[in-house]
Amino acid sequence: MTSPFPVAVLASGRGSNLAALIDAQRSGRLPIEIVLVARAKAHAPALRLAEDAGLATLALDPAGYANRTDFDADLFARIAAHSPALIVLAGYMRILDAAVLAPWVGRIINIHPSLLPRYRGLRTHERAIAAGDATHGASVHYVTQELDGGPVIAQAEIPIAADATPATLAAQLLPHEHRMLAACVGLIAEQRVHLSGNTVHYEGRPLPAPLVLCADGLRAAPA
Ligand code: GRF
Repeated sequence: MTSPFPVAVLASGRGSNLAALIDAQRSGRLPIEIVLVARAKAHAPALRLAEDAGLATLALDPAGYANRTDFDADLFARIAAHSPALIVLAGYMRILDAAVLAPWVGRIINIHPSLLPRYRGLRTHERAIAAGDATHGASVHYVTQELDGGPVIAQAEIPIAADATPATLAAQLLPHEHRMLAACVGLIAEQRVHLSGNTVHYEGRPLPAPLVLCADGLRAAPA
C-alpha cells in the first residue's frame, strides 16, 4: 500500500474548509495525511478543530517577530520539519513573504472566494453583488508571489440571487468551496494535477481553462 500524501494546512479562521478536508480524509475519499495544521495566532476555531481531530498543530504569534520575513521563515521552517508534499492555505489571511514562499511554489495552493481573476483581495462577495454580477464563485489556485494571482486549478460558479447579501452569498458558496478544495487536493495527491512553470497540468497536459466543479466532481471546462 502506498503511504498517504502528506499535507499541511494553514488556517486563520473558523476552519470549515479544514473540516471538509478532515472529513473527506476520514471517510476514505481523500488519500492524504494531514501532518500539521498551523495558524498565525492562538485560539482559532480552526486550531481547536484540528486538536479535537488529534492532528499536530502549531500556533505562532507574529507579534513575537521583528518582521514578516522572520515570522514566515520560522513558520515555514517548522512546517518543513513535517515534510508536507503540499501546503493548503484554507482561510489563511496573511500575505506570505516572497523569498520564503519561493521554494514552495508548485507545492502550495489557496482557496479564494471569487472567480479569479475577478476580485482578488478582500470583500469579494460584497464586490460581486455591488458590480451587479449574475454569478459568483470560488477558485483554487497555486500560490505565487502575486496576491491571489497564481495559476487557477479549478473554479465553482453559482448564480447570485436578486436578494443576495454578502452573508447569504458567502453561505451559499461555502459548501461548493468545501467540495472543490477536497477534490483539488485529491487530484494533486494522485499526481493528476501539478504545476509546471506557470501552467497547471491536468492528466499530463497543460490545462487550457480551470476545471469546473459539477454535481459529481471536477470536470474539464467545455472547449
Ligand atoms: C473561505 O471563504 C475561503 O475561500 C477564504 O476564507 C474562507 C475561509 O473559511 N479564503 P473557513 O475558515 O475555511 O471556514
